[in-house]
Amino acid sequence: MALIVRRGAVPKVPHTEFYAKPGVLALEEIHGSYGFSGAYSRKMHVRRYPTEQVQAPAPGGSNLRCEPPKNVPLQPFHLRTSRLGGRGDFLRSRIPLVFGRTTVVSVARPDKSTPQGEFFRNGEFHELLFVQEGEGALCSEYGELAFKPLDYLVVPKGTTWQLKLDAKKGYFLIVESAYPIQFAPHHINPAGQATLMAPVVETEIGLPVLGEARDETGRYSVFVKHDGGRLTRLSLGHHPFDLAGWEGSLYPFSFASSAHHSIAREIHTAPPVRQTFQAGQAPFSGFSVCTFRAQVEGWHPLDIPAPYAHYNVDSDEVMFFSNTSYGARKGVIEPGSLTFHPGALPHSPQGDAAARSKAARGKVSDYLAVMLDTFFEPLQITKAGLSCADKDYPLSWHKAAAGAGLSPAA
Ligand SMILES: [Fe+2]
Repeated sequence: MALIVRRGAVPKVPHTEFYAKPGVLALEEIHGSYGFSGAYSRKMHVRRYPTEQVQAPAPGGSNLRCEPPKNVPLQPFHLRTSRLGGRGDFLRSRIPLVFGRTTVVSVARPDKSTPQGEFFRNGEFHELLFVQEGEGALCSEYGELAFKPLDYLVVPKGTTWQLKLDAKKGYFLIVESAYPIQFAPHHINPAGQATLMAPVVETEIGLPVLGEARDETGRYSVFVKHDGGRLTRLSLGHHPFDLAGWEGSLYPFSFASSAHHSIAREIHTAPPVRQTFQAGQAPFSGFSVCTFRAQVEGWHPLDIPAPYAHYNVDSDEVMFFSNTSYGARKGVIEPGSLTFHPGALPHSPQGDAAARSKAARGKVSDYLAVMLDTFFEPLQITKAGLSCADKDYPLSWHKAAAGAGLSPAA
């Protein structure tokens, strides 16, 4: 993240003597990325290092491993994620659906907050959450980060957090990456600001509010995700939110999807113009995340607003539909639908969507979808993903064409 932020009290000179409480030497921790070479924050613990475990590590009780089904032929997938079960707190309701070597896509539909005294830490992946439903706060050692529907939340790998839900239920898309998730680098100038041509403005992010340090003892369980989805429970004797202050450029932040300020073109433009976030060195590794939201469709007198048919060569595509207004999938998707188009297959608008889209020429669209494109990373579906798959989806183009009178076959 481009902005360097300070919350609470930290010594001006790093790694020097500092007292948050009289006579108690505060202890400094670096939370970094790419080892010591990437974005980092330094955190001042009031009196204890975060390494003080009071009980032997133990299995975390469940796991988030991604299990692929056997012998599933190459096909496009449509997952109806709203039909999945899995309630509970954020961690226990989390269901991985699609995954690759450095990427995992899951949904979580919690109906309760993280229990008191329990915390989650993703030790292997950075996380991007999209809030489909629910409001509350992501509480971490960095402070409380409020969220509301249709917000993105970016949570760096290694953050210790809880999800406080101020609603009866929540619904989250979760995208994990081995690489840090940030605004697309080409939107940021060398000085660290978003360029004046970018769809995002870095100062529009929401930041955690740091309260009083939790300088408390007791029994605290931190469930750490590691090693391909295993969970291990660490037991601490002190509250992990014990910071007097922190400073740096690695921290959780929120970004309203409505703050992606769409850029229009006279003729249809390809998805990269909608890019909000990036992980890794796209287009060579990692992924891009695009926000398909309100935009003036092409106003050329002959423009076709519907997207191209395309092979997403070198790129597997996952798209989460927040609403059903996306014309290219009209009649197929429902809120919470997630399509997964492997790069080895072309896909296109359904039925007569291209012809129908002429009516949208020059108008502002109202669809909302989040799209993920990996680069040189094939994805696979999990058993749980397959359990909510629309079995008719591979034939839906043929059926939609027939229904629209575009094909002689029925
Ligand atoms: Fe596509």
